Formats: sequence, C-alpha cells, structure tokens
Amino acid sequence: MDNRIVIFDTTLRDGEQSPGASLNVQEKVEIAHQLAKLKIDVIEAGFPVSSPQQFEAVQRIANEVNIIVAALARAKELDIKKAAEALQGAPKKRIHTFSSTSDYHIMGKFGDTRYGSTIEEKRQTVIKMSYDAVQYAKTFCDDVEFSAEDAGRTDIGYLADVIEAAIEAGATTVNIPDTTGYTIPAEFADKIAELRKRVKNIDKAIISVHCHNDLGLAVANSLAAIETGARQVECTINGIGERAGNASLEEIVMALKVRKDKLDYYTNINTKEIYNTSKIVSSLTGLVVQPNKAIVGANAFAHESGIHQDGMLKNRETYEIMTPEDVGVMRTRIVLGRHSGRHGLKARLKELGYELGNEELDKIYKLFTDLADKKKEVYEEDLRSLMGDEVYKVNHYYHLDYLQVHLGTHAIPTATIKLRINNQEALQESATGDGPVDAIFNAIDRVLNMKYTIENYQLRSVTSGRQALGEAQLRIRDNGKSFNGRGVSTDIVEASAKAYINAINELKAYTDKQSESEPEPELESETV
Ligand code: KIV
Ligand code: ZN
Repeated sequence: MDNRIVIFDTTLRDGEQSPGASLNVQEKVEIAHQLAKLKIDVIEAGFPVSSPQQFEAVQRIANEVNIIVAALARAKELDIKKAAEALQGAPKKRIHTFSSTSDYHIMGKFGDTRYGSTIEEKRQTVIKMSYDAVQYAKTFCDDVEFSAEDAGRTDIGYLADVIEAAIEAGATTVNIPDTTGYTIPAEFADKIAELRKRVKNIDKAIISVHCHNDLGLAVANSLAAIETGARQVECTINGIGERAGNASLEEIVMALKVRKDKLDYYTNINTKEIYNTSKIVSSLTGLVVQPNKAIVGANAFAHESGIHQDGMLKNRETYEIMTPEDVGVMRTRIVLGRHSGRHGLKARLKELGYELGNEELDKIYKLFTDLADKKKEVYEEDLRSLMGDEVYKVNHYYHLDYLQVHLGTHAIPTATIKLRINNQEALQESATGDGPVDAIFNAIDRVLNMKYTIENYQLRSVTSGRQALGEAQLRIRDNGKSFNGRGVSTDIVEASAKAYINAINELKAYTDKQSESEPEPELESETV
C-alpha cells in the first residue's frame, strides 16, 4: 500500500461550523487560495444546498482554485444535484455524500415508520439510500466520496455492509468519521483494520478518516488509523470545527514529518505555509488561536525559563523537535512605519500570504497610513488584523462616518453617531447608555430603528504597548441566525462601533441574498 497520505481540508465546511466562526464568500475564496499554496490535496468548499452563500462559495472556489474541490451533500437527490451544479466549473471535483449509520443517529433521524418499523429494517433503508446516493452522484462525476456519519459508534458488522454497498455503487473514497469524538486511538485503529478485513471490495476505494476532538483525541485517532490503513485524513486549520473541533491539519502533518522514524508516511504539504495559513484563517474567522496550541500557538516556539533558554543557546535540539522555520515562522520581526510606502506594504503582505488586487491594496494602504499616523510602528499582527476586519468585508452598506462620545466620572455616557447608508444619505442620532460602548450601540440602534441581541462581545489588544491596536469582536442574533462583526482601531470605542456595524452589514448581505434566491430547504434533523 502506498504511504502517501491525502490531506482533505474541511476548514471551509466543518471548520466554518465552529461556534462563532462566520466567513463571507470573499473570505472563503481567500482562504481557498492560501490552502492551495499549502498544497492540500482536496478542499471541502461547503455544503451547497444549505444556503445561497454556501452555493456561491463552492461555485467560486470551483472556478478559481485548481485542486480537487469537494462539495457536501446528504444522501438526497436535491443535495447531490446542487453540489454538482456548484462544482460545474471545477477542473477536478468530488461529490461527498453521507448517511448516518449508528443506531443513535438512525433512531434519531429515521424514527418515522416510513423508514422501517424495526432497527434492522431502518438499517437496510440506510444502506439503500447510501447506495442510491453514490450511484446518483456518479452520474455527475467519477470522484465520489461516501461518509458513514457517526461511524465511530456504529456496529462494525453493519458499518462493513454500508461501506461495501457504497463501494459497489462506485464510491472512490470511503470516509469513517468519528463524528462525536467518542473513540480512543487503539479502538479506532482496530475499526479501520476490521473494515479492511471484512469489506470484500475495500481495495477499490481509499479509506479516509474524519475525527472530532471532543475528548482531545482527534489527532491521535487519525494517526492511529493511518497505521492500520487509512490513506486520507480529513482535518482543519487550527483544528477548528463543530463543538471541540476537528483534527488539526498542522498537528497531523508535522507529527508525520517530525516522527518519520516511527510513522513512515508522507504528505504533499508545503509546511512552510502552515503559519501563514493559520494566521489567515484565524484573522478571517475571528477564532483566536490559544497561545499554547501545538505548532501555531504564539508560545509554540517560545522558551521562557532560564534553564530552557540556556539549553537552547547551547544546542537548539535540547528543547526543540522542529524549527519555527519548518512551519514558516520567521524569527526576525519586520516592522513597517509611515515611510514604508505602497510597494513595501505590498511586499510585506505577500510574505504574510496575502496576494492583493489593486482595489484591495488601495483599501489596506489607506488603513495602513491612517494607522501609521497614530502609531509609529506597524507590526505583522496589526496588518493581519486590518486585513481580517476591513479588507475582505465586501459589504459596507452601513458605514461609520462620525462618532463622538461624552463620558466622565459623574456624567451619563452619551454617544453621537453618523452612519452613511449605501454610500448615499447619512443619518445622525445620539443616545445614552450604561457605558460608552452601550451608548454607541444604542445610538446605532436608533439610526436603524432596530435593536439586535448581542451574544458575545470581546475586546483584545492586537499587539502590546500603549499605542496597540484594539480589536472588538461581537455576534448579533436575528431570526435564529448569528452574524459576527469585528472592528479594529487604536480607539477601542471606535473598534466596538465598527464591530457592531460590520455584524449588521453581514446580516444585511445575508438577508439580501436570501430574498433574491429560492427558499432554503428544510435541513431538520439531518443537518451535519
Ligand atoms: O463529522 C461528520 O460526521 C461529518 C460528516 C459529514 C463527514 O462532518
Ligand atoms: Zn465532522
């Protein structure tokens, strides 16, 4: 068996299902380009039937990115048709269809008697649905992946039957997800070994694994499965994903590279792009990477204690099993300032992984010079924050024109705000609040004659020092859907206003898109 491991990245599909993550279409396309630079093998670009935005993102990535583009579809004709339609422009495409196979899922999703009266009958219905779905997907493309959702908790005999049927119908990759992150490494590895024994046509497909991290074992389970025969791993940048996340791409790839002595497998990943990819995903999703995160956390290569520093100075291998350069972290910090110019900025952004068109460069250059006027030194983190919060925001329907806040120890905080609407009229309102940020939010609500529920509001300093850029992040909720907004400024009150306005802009873009397309299909209990 070949020792090459196919890296299937699902940052834009499962990763985007992380609580708090939300990416607009342009941001997804940017991430897709970066993933192509990282040299992943397959990109799961989205779940086209689920919303017009998902459809558009898959379609644009299919047209622009020259790697295998996968689209997710339940085992339903409509889903598969939509996936195929979105993938039409892709030079290399894959339809990824799935059914639930554990008794927990079967009873929960197929409880109705039309799927059978006993669990055995329902199980047979699922096999038939899976077979039919793969066969239908094959009418659109040769490369079809089938996933047995909750395979981690599925009876092995039944799982083998489902997988055999999927391969018989034409699946070229069969994915074994540990959907709930329940299994432990030896058990999961055995499951893969058993499937290789029991499924008679198993050599006709690549075995894939897709592990969730509920017990913190997603990477360990994926590596264990490789050792017993899995040759595709599904993973995400920074390990983002549903609940506790998915297996982290950078951890799997570096484990295979650093421990080649024990794990004799290889990937095609350009590891020097890992750090930039992690940063881009973090700044565009707004999901901050924990400092002690393996490989890409801020402390991953920091040596704090005297003993460690001394050891490092004498011989780096004392405490370092890989170098920061291996994953693209530069040891020297390049700082830009007011005199750095457009070319200097463009070159630095390119090093950071951002390839900009003229329009985007104009935007960031203006933001950069404004910032450099306020703050002598502009760091990599500042630029990434501006890119994430301002540049790829395609929708600026509401724009902050002007803001004034009055506050003091014995004064009632009062904010006056002027919002430009669709680049035309500007409306001004004032309001009071419990504090300056509350007063601003109230003034914005007054201009728009709306009041949104704010679910989550956070402030952080992008760099250190008195002149640091502040980043505000929040989530608003409307009609059961959440929209994220981020804003940056050297003034945290202004950053908060921008974050709120950006979230409202995301909501506006979403509702506009909804109203111009057909209603979303009901995903009910069969959502992923
Ligand atoms: O976790 C899961 O089971 C999934 C499937 C759709 C592959 O995300
Ligand atoms: Zn998943």
